[in-house]
Amino acid sequence: RGRAAAVQVRSSALAAAAPILDDLRLRCATPLPLLRHVADAMAADMRAGLAADGAGELKMIPSYVYSLPTGNETGLFYALDLGGTNFRVLRVQLGGKDRRVIDSESEQVSIPKEIMHGTTEELFDFIAARLSNFVAKEGGNFRLQKGRKREIGFTFSFPVKQTSIDSGILIKWTKGFAVSGTAGKDVVACLNAAMERQGLDMRVSALVNDTVGTLAGAHYWDEDVMVAVILGTGTNACYIEKNDFIPKLLHLGPLTGNTIINTEWGAFSDGLPLTEFDRDMDAESINPGEQIFEKTISGMYLGEIVRRVLAKMAQEHDLFGHSFAEKLAQPFVLRTPHLCAMQQDSSNDLGEVQLILRDVIGVNESSLAERRAIVDVSDCIVKRGGRLAGAGIAGILQKMESDSNGQVLGRRTAVAMDGGLYENYPQYRSYMTEAMVELLGPQDSEHVVVEHTKDGSGIGAALLAAANSKYAAQSST
Ligand code: GLC
Repeated sequence: RGRAAAVQVRSSALAAAAPILDDLRLRCATPLPLLRHVADAMAADMRAGLAADGAGELKMIPSYVYSLPTGNETGLFYALDLGGTNFRVLRVQLGGKDRRVIDSESEQVSIPKEIMHGTTEELFDFIAARLSNFVAKEGGNFRLQKGRKREIGFTFSFPVKQTSIDSGILIKWTKGFAVSGTAGKDVVACLNAAMERQGLDMRVSALVNDTVGTLAGAHYWDEDVMVAVILGTGTNACYIEKNDFIPKLLHLGPLTGNTIINTEWGAFSDGLPLTEFDRDMDAESINPGEQIFEKTISGMYLGEIVRRVLAKMAQEHDLFGHSFAEKLAQPFVLRTPHLCAMQQDSSNDLGEVQLILRDVIGVNESSLAERRAIVDVSDCIVKRGGRLAGAGIAGILQKMESDSNGQVLGRRTAVAMDGGLYENYPQYRSYMTEAMVELLGPQDSEHVVVEHTKDGSGIGAALLAAANSKYAAQSST
């Protein structure tokens, strides 16, 4: 009898909390006109950022990559990839036109939280020590040509004001990094100093954003790749721009050819459908008011937004009873992979959802209706994220199309895509694609191929190191 009464109370709590879900659906809705506004605003902001620094929300950073790897590069190159909770080191032996990548090897190291919140020296010493370990294990198919220094492509996935292909100043940290003393410094100089402290004699030949590395890596195999997008912990996009469409570079004299532009689209915010949960999360973040697009669509934040919705449902209406409150109150306990696992649960009793509720947010018992409501909340947030990501991509393609008289959407154009969110979350992926088709129309969207380029930024950075090698004359035949 007591149990029946408890179930009754719980189902009325769910009914009482239902308006929160209805309101959420309404506020997170992304109907076509809204998506269109986002795509247009993205394109307009791109133009503003190309005209002058600071003129729009998008930084539109020129990468100084003027030529993409051709396939002719030969020799041993390294890459170092720092951008999220892990960093990777990689080496690749390039064999030129016919043999391309003879062999590659990589290692991944997770970055301890205290390093993410420590000092610049601590971070770079940590990286250089791991790199040095990795270099010491070189052998097998990997061989440095005589008389050369080992060269590295450094993928550094934060907003950097590039000053040349091999130097750049950190504008600010994003994605939960809060390392002191790095903003305003040349990150290549920081790495060089740390390598020197390790006694490691290597040369950074290319400093690239992860989107730029991904574009270069994908373009090596498919010349139709014009855009690269990362949807992972954070999010960003880059694309190939004609130099005469970059007014802010005009002072360098008349430029022909193309360059890759790192948009830093994570900073976009115009017209996004935001909720109180987004605003609260932003206000409590380490970078309030910044990276609003990133906070709405990327992996670091989706789980946290859902947690905030559930916490409100629980606090105001006693959803799930009382026992769990403490765990659910912890920022970032619910992570995007949990949402993903819950959305893949197709069992009748949503058993997987129940396990996650129990293990992650401490709800020991949940009714089927409650589990369903939670999946609905997740879907609502993930749908908004995926569809807005699609609108961003459509915005970039439309900008390129209108500047090229139909040369982009009138033919096969590939978008290289990487990041765990895209790779692992099928619903997110289909919401994204759905929005692109709605915006571009069935005919044009047929020409757009989204290619998953797994870990392309590492190889891409090594390829860019090769293409910009100090020994370039010898490394391309
Ligand atoms: C963040 C960084 C950006 C990076 C992206 C994806 O938005 O600011 O540079 O490309 O995350 O890793």
